[in-house]
Amino acid sequence: MNRTFIEALANRRSYYGISNRSPITAVELEKRIQQTIENLPSTNNSQSTRLVLLYGENHQKLWDIVKEVLRNMMKPDKSFERTEKKINAFAAGYASVLFYEDMKIVEALQEQFPTYATRYPIWSEHTSAMHQIAVWTLLEDSGFGASLQHYNPIIDDLVQKQFDIPEKWHLIAQMPFGIPTETPGEKTVIPPSEKILIFR
Ligand SMILES: Cc1cc2nc3c(=O)[nH]c(=O)nc-3n(C[C@H](O)[C@H](O)[C@H](O)COP(=O)(O)O)c2cc1C
Repeated sequence: MNRTFIEALANRRSYYGISNRSPITAVELEKRIQQTIENLPSTNNSQSTRLVLLYGENHQKLWDIVKEVLRNMMKPDKSFERTEKKINAFAAGYASVLFYEDMKIVEALQEQFPTYATRYPIWSEHTSAMHQIAVWTLLEDSGFGASLQHYNPIIDDLVQKQFDIPEKWHLIAQMPFGIPTETPGEKTVIPPSEKILIFR
């Protein structure tokens, strides 16, 4: 798709209905993700963000973990049924991206610059968010629909063990995606002019 940056951002939405098909090859997808994250900003150029891309059985395993953890935490009532349906919809997708932060890097910055020690974990989350919006928009622009999920911290240990994730990587978010099967509903939008103060 030949879209402008503004068009790509305007088209990014949360897609909850997704299928397990892909509009591009896995090799092309991986290339685009790598190109997208190569030059993103990070606090002190720390480059602390780590991604895990899960396809097929690995993607299924992630959502099985989420479902089983929640099944053990929730009463087996209507609200769990709703949750299960939601998680099954993520599992029905093509793949998931996990966003991690390498805390070894964050801790090194805290030691190096003690004045800002309390800020580095916050800036690390900002750094992750920059990666999240870039990858989310890239996925939409490539013909996928994606959403941003936060089942951490309840899944952290099981996911770490399942995928042999380095101990110091801290899970921030999960992004399931696939070809959209539904169009996102209308959302209310505050006019951008109300969100900016402009001084000419
Ligand atoms: C920091 C952040 C956390 C979010 N967490 C979740 C989440 O855990 N689950 C979810 O379904 N959507 C989550 N969202 C998506 C928002 O609900 C969504 O972006 C918002 O309602 C606007 O809809 P849109 O994405 O379709 O534009 C999150 C978004 C942001 C920016």
